[in-house]
Amino acid sequence: MALSSNTPSLRVLFFLAMVVYAAHAGKAAPKEKGKEKSGGSAAAPEAASPEAASLEGATVSGGSSDISKAGAKGDGKMDSTKAVNEAWAAACGKDGAQTLTIPKGDYLTGPLNFTGPCKGSVTIQLDGNLLGSTDLGQYKSNSWIQIEHVDNLVITGKGTLDGQGKQVWKCDKKYYCKILPNSLVLSYVNNGTVSGITLLNSKFFHMNVFQCKDITIKDVTITAPGDSPNTDGIHMGDSSKVTITGTTIGTGDDCISIGPGSTGINITGVTCGPGHGISVGSLGRYKDEKDVTNINVKDCTLTKTSNGVRIKSYEDAASTLTASKIHYENIAMDDVANPVIIDMKYCPNKICTSKGASKVTIKDVTFKNITGTSSTPEAVSLLCSDKLPCSGVTLDGVKVEFKGTNNKTMAVCNNAKGTATGCLKELACL
Ligand SMILES: *[C@@H]1O[C@H](CO)[C@@H](O)[C@H](O)[C@H]1NC(C)=O
Ligand SMILES: *[C@@H]1O[C@H](CO)[C@@H](O)[C@H](O)[C@H]1NC(C)=O
Ligand SMILES: *[C@@H]1O[C@H](CO)[C@@H](O)[C@H](O)[C@H]1NC(C)=O
Ligand SMILES: *[C@@H]1O[C@H](CO)[C@@H](O)[C@H](O)[C@H]1NC(C)=O
Ligand SMILES: *[C@@H]1O[C@H](CO)[C@@H](O)[C@H](O)[C@H]1NC(C)=O
Repeated sequence: MALSSNTPSLRVLFFLAMVVYAAHAGKAAPKEKGKEKSGGSAAAPEAASPEAASLEGATVSGGSSDISKAGAKGDGKMDSTKAVNEAWAAACGKDGAQTLTIPKGDYLTGPLNFTGPCKGSVTIQLDGNLLGSTDLGQYKSNSWIQIEHVDNLVITGKGTLDGQGKQVWKCDKKYYCKILPNSLVLSYVNNGTVSGITLLNSKFFHMNVFQCKDITIKDVTITAPGDSPNTDGIHMGDSSKVTITGTTIGTGDDCISIGPGSTGINITGVTCGPGHGISVGSLGRYKDEKDVTNINVKDCTLTKTSNGVRIKSYEDAASTLTASKIHYENIAMDDVANPVIIDMKYCPNKICTSKGASKVTIKDVTFKNITGTSSTPEAVSLLCSDKLPCSGVTLDGVKVEFKGTNNKTMAVCNNAKGTATGCLKELACL
C-alpha cells in the first residue's frame, strides 16, 4: 500500500477508514497493509484523500479491486455479492486501465450489477470461480452477471462462472422457470473481449450479448448437460461485429444462437455438442425485430447435436424482417440429426399457430463444404414458406451421409430457390 501520509490528520483519517473497512469486511484490516501490489490494477491507491475516506470499504482499502480484499470469501459458502459489486464500482470509478481480480477460490454471489460507464477501462481477471446463488428470490432481473454500458471491457482468465443451474432446472413452478437468470449478460458494451474462461451449468443462457458492438469471444468453454433446459451457449441480438473463435460449447440448447438485429457476425473454430447446433433465429417471434445480415460460420465441428447449421423462423411472425448473406462453410458433422436445415415453420412446444403468413424473408444463404454424417435420413431440409420462398440458396459441396442402414440419405426442399453444385446427388434438391 503506497500510502504515505505526512500529516497526522491524514493518518487519523486513514486509520478510521481502515476501521470502517475492517468492520465492513469482517476481518482484520491491518494484515492487508503492504501486500497490495498488483501492478497496473485498480489496487494502486492514489492517496488517502479525505474523499477516499468517505467512500465505501472497497475503495477505502486502498483502491484494491481484488474482491477478496473487498471482503469476498472464497469458501463457496459466504455470500460475496456486496463485496464483488463494490470492487467493481471501485475499478469502474477510476481512470486508466483497471483490473478487477477474482483470485483463486469459490465465491458465491447473487446478482452482480456491473454498470458503467466507467472512467477508464476495466479488465476482469477471473482466476477463481464465481458461483451463482441458487436462491432465485435474489434475482430482480433475468441476469446473474450483468455488464451494461461498459466500453473497452476485457474478461479473461482460467476461472469458471458456475451458474449452479442443476439445482433450479427442475423447477416445477412455471413462474420460477420463466425468470431463471442468464449467467453472463453484456448489454450496450462496445469493444469487449471474453477469453479463456469457462461457463458452467447456467440457469438459463450462458451468455447473452445484447446491443453490443465489436465483441470477441475467444477460447471459451461452455458446458452443461445435453438435457438441461434453455441453457443456450451464446445468444446474441441487436449486436454488430461479434466474433467467436476457438470455443467449445456443449449444452442443452443452441450452442450459438444469432437472434434478430445481428449483423457482421463471424464464427470460426467452434466445436458444438451436445446441443441444438449453431442457429440463426428464432426470427419473427416478437414485434420490431431487426434484420440479420452478414453472418459467417466457418471451420466448425458439430457432434451428436439435434441440428447442425440452422435458420429458424416463425410462420405466424409478429414482425417483418429479412435474414440475408448467411454463409456456412467447412462444417464437419458427426452424427447430427438435422445437419442442414432452414425451418420457416419453427414452432417449439406449440407456443404458436402455424397458420399465419410468414413475414420473415430468407435469402442469399450458402452451405459450402458441409461434410460428415447424419443420424437421420434427412440430411438437408429446406422448409421454406409457400408464400415467401427462400431465394438465393446455394448448396455447394454438401456431402453429409445418413449413418444408419435402414434408410437412405435424402433432402427435402420446399419452396427454396437456388443452385446446388458438387453435392451428394441425393442432396442436390435445388
Ligand atoms: C445497477 O446499477 C445501476 C447504476 O449503479 C443502477 O442504475 C441500476 O438500477 C442497477 N440495476 C439493478 C438491476 O440493480
Ligand atoms: C478496446 O479495448 C481494449 C481493452 O481495453 C483496448 O486496449 C483497445 O484500445 C480498445 N480499442 C479501441 C478501438 O478502443
Ligand atoms: C468477418 O469476416 C469477413 C469475411 O472474412 C470480414 O470481411 C469481416 O471484416 C469480418 N468481421 C469481423 C467483425 O471481424
Ligand atoms: C472442407 O471442410 C473440412 C472441415 O470440415 C476441411 O477439413 C476441408 O479441408 C474442407 N475442404 C475444402 C476443399 O476446403
Ligand atoms: C426413411 O426416412 C424417411 C424420412 O425420415 C421416412 O419418411 C421413411 O419412412 C423412411 N423409410 C423407411 C423404410 O424407414
